[in-house]
Amino acid sequence: MSPQSSAPTTELRIPEHVAIIMDGNGRWAKQRGLPRTDGHIRGQDALRATLRAAAEFGIRYLTVYAFSTENWSRPKEEVDALMSLLVSAIHSETPSLIEEGVRLEAIGNLSRLPEAAQQALRESIQATAACERITLIVALSYSSRDEILRATTQIAREVAEGRLSADSLTEETISAHLDTAAFPDPDLLIRTGGEERISNYLLWQAAYAELFFSSVYWPDFDREALREALEAYTARERRFGKTSEQIQLED
Ligand code: IPE
Ligand code: IPE
Ligand code: MG
Repeated sequence: MSPQSSAPTTELRIPEHVAIIMDGNGRWAKQRGLPRTDGHIRGQDALRATLRAAAEFGIRYLTVYAFSTENWSRPKEEVDALMSLLVSAIHSETPSLIEEGVRLEAIGNLSRLPEAAQQALRESIQATAACERITLIVALSYSSRDEILRATTQIAREVAEGRLSADSLTEETISAHLDTAAFPDPDLLIRTGGEERISNYLLWQAAYAELFFSSVYWPDFDREALREALEAYTARERRFGKTSEQIQLED
């Protein structure tokens, strides 16, 4: 089950969907006397390695927080650097995404991104649409409250136009109007960089996700760090409100 393992471990239980808050790029760079942008550049290497490892572990969906709605308030130079890194990363990585069977998707208020970034995303999403090994969902200009607000506006519009009835709304109606409508909810939510907060990420979708906080700065995250999170996940009992005894009977 876990051929890459060198240490003796129990068999890993692999979550279908892992979401990551890739935090700590700036502190990684600062620790080395480098500009923050260098941290973001090394963060891309960590994403490449983590994505590859995730696919090898058998994870089917990986959602990564790359740029939040709140990140628009960073200094303009950093925002500009992040946007041009995004465009160059999409261009340089798309051939290997295709080669490795990675389908690219994006969530967030993408209309706020510079046109070059929107176009690069559109092209890469289209070019990888038939890939089936793993889906990489990049959260860009994303915040959960903004996503829920956009979904609510859309639902209100459909109710006003008579296409939906206010009395028949369900939790599924809301899920179906979120940017993540086509994806299952995350099973495991990892935050790197040592902070223990959710920072407006997948609030609806992660209602029952297992949380794992790692002190590793994102540029240092790799296969072994992911394995550690998967081992912690394997040891958790997901009860979804039931008792432990009920869960053990189901297994
Ligand atoms: C995460 O790293 C990347 C983005 C938010 C774009 P940070 O840039 O937040 O790094 P720290 O938290 O300052 O170390
Ligand atoms: C969260 O990181 C957003 C991303 C990783 C893209 P931040 O570094 O922006 O989070 P806060 O503001 O410190 O909580
Ligand atoms: Mg941060």
